[in-house]
Amino acid sequence: MTKAAQATFWDKIAERYAARPLKDPDAYEAMLADAAGRLKPSDHVLEIGCGTGSTAIRLAPSVAQWTAADFSPEMLRIAKAKPAPQNLRFVLADAQSAFEGGPFDVICAFQVLHLVDDLPGTLSRIHAQLKPGGMMIAKTWCFADMKLSLRGLFLVLRAVGLFPPVNALTKTALREKIRDAGFQIVDERVFGTNPHGPYIVARKA
Ligand SMILES: C[S@@+](CC[C@H](N)C(=O)[O-])C[C@H]1O[C@@H](n2cnc3c(N)ncnc32)[C@H](O)[C@@H]1O
Repeated sequence: MTKAAQATFWDKIAERYAARPLKDPDAYEAMLADAAGRLKPSDHVLEIGCGTGSTAIRLAPSVAQWTAADFSPEMLRIAKAKPAPQNLRFVLADAQSAFEGGPFDVICAFQVLHLVDDLPGTLSRIHAQLKPGGMMIAKTWCFADMKLSLRGLFLVLRAVGLFPPVNALTKTALREKIRDAGFQIVDERVFGTNPHGPYIVARKA
């Protein structure tokens, strides 16, 4: 699938994605609280794959500047229509080229690293665009750890165009790729009951 076709997939489901209730609001709030606790008021933050901007809108008040990027114009249209803090800017950009304005203190990637074409390349770019000591905060779905029946369901949904192409990673492989890009993993947590979407905090040495 080309990059343009991938973005079109997200354009088509943007309204439904925005309207969908959170599966586990307590887990989301706990994740936001953890991320907010790691941010500093002086931080310049980049978020890749920001979707409809909900997380950016909640976390931007904790920092100096938050740039939220996504490659789907429709996702961004919905994001931009929401009331947002003044230090938040939305930009149309692919995860591999969203780094204008860097280097950053923190780069966030919530539910997106499993979707990028070139994960090692994206992680290397994130690493390169962080200041020394900078931090990546990422929540990533690890499909290869999921039950066979669930993976089968996703394959069927993918075949009929209702699910995007994903990197089927195990948690072990994800950690390895993060370390290979030069990061030190400083924390890993699961918010909620699904163990297959680890929230990983990694630091650039
Ligand atoms: C599952 S949604 C997550 C949105 C948001 N981060 C959240 O946690 O609700 C994935 C988002 O990543 C975006 N996305 C997927 N692949 C991307 C890429 N290569 N570059 C930029 N954005 C991408 C999609 O457009 C979509 O908005």
